[in-house]
Amino acid sequence: MKNESLFLSGAKEILSPDSLLTEPEECAPFASDWTRLPGNPSAVVLPKTTAQVASILKLCQNLKIPVVPSGGRTGLCGGAVASKGEVVVNLSRMTQLTPVNVASRTVRVQAGAVTQSVHEHCAKAGLLWPIDLAAKGSSEIGGNLSTNAGGVRVIRYGMSRRWVVGLQAVTMNGEILELNEAVEKNNTGYDLVQLIIGSEGTLAVITEATLKLVPIPKNVSVLFFSVDDLPSLLKLFEIARKGPFEVLAFEFFSAKCLQAVEEKLHRRSRLSRGAEYYVLMEIEEQGRVDDWLSQLLESTIVQDGLLAHSSQEQRDVWALREGITESIALTGPVRKYDVSLPVTRMLSFLGEVLESIRNLRIELFLFGHFGDGSPHLNLVKPANASLEDYEKDCDRFEEKLFHLLKENGGSISAEHGVGILRKNWLTFSRSKTELALYHAIKKAFDPDGLLNPGKVLGQRSPG
Ligand code: MLT
Ligand code: ZN
Repeated sequence: MKNESLFLSGAKEILSPDSLLTEPEECAPFASDWTRLPGNPSAVVLPKTTAQVASILKLCQNLKIPVVPSGGRTGLCGGAVASKGEVVVNLSRMTQLTPVNVASRTVRVQAGAVTQSVHEHCAKAGLLWPIDLAAKGSSEIGGNLSTNAGGVRVIRYGMSRRWVVGLQAVTMNGEILELNEAVEKNNTGYDLVQLIIGSEGTLAVITEATLKLVPIPKNVSVLFFSVDDLPSLLKLFEIARKGPFEVLAFEFFSAKCLQAVEEKLHRRSRLSRGAEYYVLMEIEEQGRVDDWLSQLLESTIVQDGLLAHSSQEQRDVWALREGITESIALTGPVRKYDVSLPVTRMLSFLGEVLESIRNLRIELFLFGHFGDGSPHLNLVKPANASLEDYEKDCDRFEEKLFHLLKENGGSISAEHGVGILRKNWLTFSRSKTELALYHAIKKAFDPDGLLNPGKVLGQRSPG
């Protein structure tokens, strides 16, 4: 690391000894995220206060040392990977939660608070921060907001950015920004809260947030269906939208995904075998769902279906969906694509995807957030293909996939972000003018390009 001894002596003045890691084996767990891309941080700092974050960033700015902000490291695009000897600033020790403000339905939390602990904290007041992720046991609020995480209830509640009132964030030169502490209405110019959310730690490091809450939905039921094909899946979605309930989640997965969860994690589906796709539907009942369900089961749209009554049954169905990522990772090398397009185009799009993958040396595991028009395409290496052939075919497919998305008015990243993995494809989702503005914004926040370098943007402005 450049200026290593100056950094170490400065950091020791700012942090307690247990908050500064320099040994490679201590730093290793903080080097990467769920992409498992290789990383090699020079040091890891674990601040406990915003003031410490500010002092560390200022020190790094003065010494021109690049910094990678990180949290729970559940990202899937490499946004928290430190691959060039950067200093990792990990916020996992900043976990304070203030009491829920029931009147304003808000809660102030530090960036390192784990999503699930925020849910549990708010539940005591009958309230919910409505972002629900498969990774909720490890993901942290700072990371959720930096990546504008989505999750399984976007169809009902939208993405993370909708559920933030105010933000505290630190810029690379150590300035602490208190943005819109807790007022809902503040029409005074550019909205820096929303600009920093989703910027993947390239503009500022989020240290605290005031989150907006909703009442915990009542009468929540989970339905689980099997269907023969994609047209039936779409029909089921259309019918569900007219049902006597509010859809909270409409998730789908292919038979291959279910098989992987059953084999690798030893979880069991209670539906009869032999279907192509499965749908998990979570609903907030507003009428007679039993009648609606009987009618549906008499039709030819679904092959089989069940209503999970007890909370244990509901958890069992969710465990199938939430185990997919882990079980695919245990299956073999995988390339992951998280894309989106208008839900009305899903059928023809997925049809083309299946067609173009047919003769490639790739096993497709298809799942995701059907109701949001946001499928996850996971390309796994078949046992009988060489790594080289598989990689070649993945590259071929990737190009085709991104063109297909452009034709369908879709996006190359729905909810996982850009990080390292998608930055070279940004022109498929953003215009030249947008990208030039991105570079100008980055320069305004971080003129020396020291904050999360190489993420989201390429080195130079296009054109
Ligand atoms: C999910 O929907 O389970 C997550 O986005 C993780 C993934 O895509 O693997
Ligand atoms: Zn997802």
